[in-house]
Amino acid sequence: MTNADQRPCVAVLASGGGTNLQALIDAAQDPAFPARIGLVLTNMPGAYCLDRAKAAGIPGAVVDHRDYADRPTFEAAVDLTLRDYGAEFVCLAGFMRILTEGFVRAWHDRMLNIHPSLLPKYKGLHTHRRALEAGDDVHGCTVHLVRPELDDGPLILQAEVPVLPGDTEETLQQRVLSREHVIFPQALALVTAGRVEVSGSETRIDGEPGPLRLSWAGE
Ligand code: GRF
Repeated sequence: MTNADQRPCVAVLASGGGTNLQALIDAAQDPAFPARIGLVLTNMPGAYCLDRAKAAGIPGAVVDHRDYADRPTFEAAVDLTLRDYGAEFVCLAGFMRILTEGFVRAWHDRMLNIHPSLLPKYKGLHTHRRALEAGDDVHGCTVHLVRPELDDGPLILQAEVPVLPGDTEETLQQRVLSREHVIFPQALALVTAGRVEVSGSETRIDGEPGPLRLSWAGE
């Protein structure tokens, strides 16, 4: 089958439900979006992200990390699958595997991650709990280019949300997640349209110092 859609191919890597994946699929359905989602790859057989791919007519692939002796052989299989499908960019959307330096270098400046905090604050897990415990009044999410260190790399786009009185980890997580769904497609559009320039750990977006930051505009 030939693909009439000439936009660059993006592979989305996910391990779970994939609400961010859905936001990317929905955005890329607009022909004016500068890239197409051409593959959903998961390490978890049966993950709901595969159903989302199927419903959108996007190929889904499973590379189960438990079938491989170590991380590099698992990643070699992931990399081969990405290249088989012609992926030019990769989005990590809740992909729960740590990636080695070799894999990250192979996708240098072409792999994006979404993280639920205003990086460089709160790298790693339990970001909402940590923001609540710190008494922060502003929290949010970040899309960045991936580097070998965990949740590190040039920042592209951030969205702020307020921490409200009475917030729990769950209410705050939902407020942040709703903004993740806005900024991930926007950041992917910026990168695939060639509007992000990277120099060391800095970005420029349309010539202006990054990251772009969206402040809270209500629910
Ligand atoms: C999100 O919280 C994202 O920030 C993190 O993993 C989660 C994925 O959620 N990297 P979903 O599967 O996209 O709903």
